[in-house]
Amino acid sequence: MSTPETKMAGISRRMISAKAEQFTESVIREMTRLAMKHNAVNLSQGFPDFAAPEAVKEAARQAISDDINQYAITWGAKPLRDAIVEKFERTQSVRYDPEREITICCGSTEAMMSAMMAIINPGDEVVVFEPFYENYGPDAILSGAAPRFVRMQPPSEQNPDWSFDRDQLAAAFGVNTKAIILNTPNNPTGKVFTRGELEFIRDLCVRWNAYCITDEIYEHILYDGTEHISMARLEGMRDRTIVINGMSKTYSVTGWRVGWALAPPEPTQAIRKVHDFLTVGAAAPLQQAGASALHSPPAYYDNLAVTYAKKRERLLKILETAGFTVYTPRGAYYIMTDISSFDFPAKDPRFASGSKDVAFAKYLVQEIGVACVPGSSFYNDSQDGASQVRFTFCKKEETLAAAEARFTKLKA
Ligand SMILES: Cc1ncc(COP(=O)(O)O)c(C=O)c1O
Repeated sequence: MSTPETKMAGISRRMISAKAEQFTESVIREMTRLAMKHNAVNLSQGFPDFAAPEAVKEAARQAISDDINQYAITWGAKPLRDAIVEKFERTQSVRYDPEREITICCGSTEAMMSAMMAIINPGDEVVVFEPFYENYGPDAILSGAAPRFVRMQPPSEQNPDWSFDRDQLAAAFGVNTKAIILNTPNNPTGKVFTRGELEFIRDLCVRWNAYCITDEIYEHILYDGTEHISMARLEGMRDRTIVINGMSKTYSVTGWRVGWALAPPEPTQAIRKVHDFLTVGAAAPLQQAGASALHSPPAYYDNLAVTYAKKRERLLKILETAGFTVYTPRGAYYIMTDISSFDFPAKDPRFASGSKDVAFAKYLVQEIGVACVPGSSFYNDSQDGASQVRFTFCKKEETLAAAEARFTKLKA
């Protein structure tokens, strides 16, 4: 009954789609469920456990009181579209038309999915840097794109930052390349792509007539003087870039599910159609509140980065003391670590099977009481992430202190 192949009226029929069979549920979100089950400190999923800004919450309350409770225009409430376009011009010096070049979606997750479904045809390939935010795998499968992965190597003495081989990247592009998916600042590595790297990617996009879909959700979470440069800002790229962003990380409202795609008119028309039939629209009162959040003063964004810089230092120290090799992030709010110094899979049969990262993450959540994300969920071939796990530091000081206390039981 539950097998994919079921005989009905003499017809052999696959009851679950071949696409849905190709991927699992999100490992990141599963780790949150495990953290709850084992009462562990949750340093796995990237959602803040502290309050959203009071002004942003008040704007949402006001929007509901003002009866903004019915469908917004399917591609987004005008005040929010205007605010996004204005902010993007202010920060990146690129102007979009709020009437024809933006689609508000249910989070950047839906914006990415809608964008890919809007542009991908059978046979199209997308280039993806690896390790990658795990959604991009299922996004590729669901939209029908064939991913071509290009590895970023962890920092070493020779390379101070996560780096990619330019020849390898060039070799991943070809006549079938429809797009490259870029995520800067990057999850899980914390890499912030430099102008030189972006120009190299730009030249490949132009040469192969490909889009760049750029996920910029961590645009304001930057450290060590790094600068976020949107691909849309580079000469020749405005009209072949799809910018994906959202409110989740910048305003600490991951549960609001408000995101967007900025793109030239032609792809926007297609994105809007896909979006309309997927979700109709994002929550209307939260779009209204989003408009006021996007008008936050520059000090708000500066303070966000300063606050996260302190949390980054705190978690780096906690993890180093606990025996992890840490890769210092230059942006976003995650720390990728190497767990080679831990002896896993363990002798305890409960943690003896599976790849090292999965056995280790299971042990950590069940026995030590801290949840992380196994490195394999960021790689196409799970073996490639077997010596890595990722932690997040978008958490209150009490949460980080609780993790620190629990790590004292961990032996490297
Ligand atoms: C790189 C990246 N893109 C997108 C998302 C999801 O964003 P949203 O909440 O807007 O769907 C995340 C969440 O962790 C992320 O890390």
